[in-house]
Amino acid sequence: MIELQSVPPFFEDKPELLQEILDRYPPYGRRSAVMPLLWEVQRAERHVSEARVVEIAEILDLHPTEVKGVMSFYSTYHGEPVGRWHLQVCSTLPCALAGSDALCDHLVRELGVVPGETDPEGRFSLQKVECLGSCTTAPVVQVNDAFYERVTRSRADALIEALRRDAPPEPWRERGGDAAGPDDAAAEADAAPRDGEGEAR
Ligand code: FES
Repeated sequence: MIELQSVPPFFEDKPELLQEILDRYPPYGRRSAVMPLLWEVQRAERHVSEARVVEIAEILDLHPTEVKGVMSFYSTYHGEPVGRWHLQVCSTLPCALAGSDALCDHLVRELGVVPGETDPEGRFSLQKVECLGSCTTAPVVQVNDAFYERVTRSRADALIEALRRDAPPEPWRERGGDAAGPDDAAAEADAAPRDGEGEAR
């Protein structure tokens, strides 16, 4: 509440956006707007602070703990700021079998942060998440809103190098022959999983 008094409400200067979101739902279902309202804050501020939780609760006539309950269920929302580049490594079984644990360890070494951390410069943060919905192209890494599929170690290196230049590559989507990986041939050759391969290289 103290924080609310020190920062202007997020939606104060966005009445049209707020109304557009609220109008998506009938009056009796207005509480469903909690997800898009959280998302607008998360996208703009890279986290949802206590002040924003209280603000959203007041807008929707909810208790702040109800808003926090939604937040805690989804890995999308963060109570603390994440990095400019937020890397989410799928750790569910299909990706784990394809080597996501070793891939995550590699990212820890390269980025100097452990899952749940943001580096001191606020550039990189790392998180282990549950299934990202692309199990047939494991292992999968999501960077902010972009998907990178079949992320081998060499591909991860190419991805990190691009992010360090603030030049994220186009998402690598590989479903149904829609293959588009990194440009370099070596990394492209890494894309196809090999029989018996249990770890991202
Ligand atoms: S298990 Fe990783 S995307 Fe589904």
